[in-house]
Amino acid sequence: MLGIETSCDETGIGVVRGRTLLSDAVASSVDEHARFGGVVPEVASRAHLEAMAPTIERACGQAGIRLGDLDAIAVTAGPGLVGSLLVGTATAKALALGLGIPLYGVNHLAGHVVVDELEHGPLPDGCIALLVSGGHTSLVLVRGQGTDLHPLGATLDDAAGEAFDKVARLLDLPFPGGPWIDRAAREGAADAIDFPRGLMIGNDAARYPYDFSFSGVKSAVLRWIRKQQSEGAAISVPDVAASFQEAVVDVLTRKAIAACRDHGIDHLVLGGGVAANSRLRALAEERCAEQGIELRIPRPGLCTDNGAMIAALGAKLVSNGMPPSGLGFPTTSTLALSTVVSDEPAPSGVSSSQ
Ligand code: KG4
Ligand code: ZN
Repeated sequence: MLGIETSCDETGIGVVRGRTLLSDAVASSVDEHARFGGVVPEVASRAHLEAMAPTIERACGQAGIRLGDLDAIAVTAGPGLVGSLLVGTATAKALALGLGIPLYGVNHLAGHVVVDELEHGPLPDGCIALLVSGGHTSLVLVRGQGTDLHPLGATLDDAAGEAFDKVARLLDLPFPGGPWIDRAAREGAADAIDFPRGLMIGNDAARYPYDFSFSGVKSAVLRWIRKQQSEGAAISVPDVAASFQEAVVDVLTRKAIAACRDHGIDHLVLGGGVAANSRLRALAEERCAEQGIELRIPRPGLCTDNGAMIAALGAKLVSNGMPPSGLGFPTTSTLALSTVVSDEPAPSGVSSSQ
C-alpha cells in the first residue's frame, strides 16, 4: 500500500505491507514558509508539485519495490489546504488509473490515529484519541479499531500547535515554534508564571467538557511580555516557554483522561505534530499510569505529518474489507472526522471543493 499525504506543508510518501512499515519519505517545504511566520498555501502547493515524483521514487527505493508491485494506493482527501490536497489526490488518481489498482481517498485525522498500529500493534475496539496538530485539536471516541470516529470535542479557537507557533513568535523563536518552545522549556520553570487554563473551571468546564480554547493563554503571554517590557523587567524565554507549555499540556491531558473515564475506556492514543512534545508525552504518561489507562503514542517522526500514516490507514481499510473510493471522490478541505473514506460526490456536490 502506497500512502500519499499532502494536506499541509509536508509531502509524505509511505509504503506499508499490512502493519509493517517498509518506507517513510518526507519532503517538507517548512523552510520556504519560515520568513512568513506561517504556511503560505500557494507556496506549499508548488512545493508539493516539485517534491512529489522524487519523494515517491525515494519511498519506493527505500521499500525495495517498483510501482508495479503496489496492490493499492491511499491518499489524504481532507481535511487540509485545498491546493495542497489537490496535488496529492491528482497524483494518486493518475497512479491508480495507470497501474489499474484500487484507490482510497482517506481522512488525514484517522491516519494520525491508525499510524500507531505500525509501532504498537492492533488498536483495541474502543479508545480515546487526542489529536493535536497545527490545524486541529480534537478529542475523538474511536471504535472499529481506528476506522469509526466519533468527535467528542475540539478547539473553539486556536489549535494547540497554532498556539505554540504564535507564542514562539512572541518570543522571537523560529517557525514552526512548537519544537523551539519544547527545547527552551527544558531550561525553564513550569511554575514561574501562572498562565490560564482555558475551559477548565466553573460553567465553561461543565458546558465544554471535551472542548479546548487556547486563545486566552496566548493573549495572557502577550500581556505578560508587554507588562515586563513596560516595566523594563527581564523576560526569561525558558520560563515563559515552560509556563505556557505547562498550561497547554495540563489542559490537554486532563480533558483526555476525563474523556477516557467518562466513557469507561482504558486506552488513550495521541497523534498529530504536538504529540511530539516531550512534556506532553511525559505528563500523559504520568497521568495515565495514575489512572490505569494504557497510553499509546507513536514515535515523534510518525506524529508529525507523513505518508506512512495514510498507507497504514489504507491497509487497514483493505483488511477490514472496505470498498475503495473510485476515481471521482472529491478533495474536501473541511472533511468531517466521521468520514474516514471519501466517496464519489453526491449529485448536488455541495461538500465538494473540486
Ligand atoms: O501534524 P503536524 O505535522 O501538521 C499539521 O497537520 O498541522 O503538526 C504541526 C504542528 C506545528 O504547529 C508545530 O509547531 C507542532 O505541530 N509541533 C510541536 C512539536 N513538534 C511539532 N509542538 C510542540 N512541541 C513539539 N515538540
Ligand atoms: Zn496532521
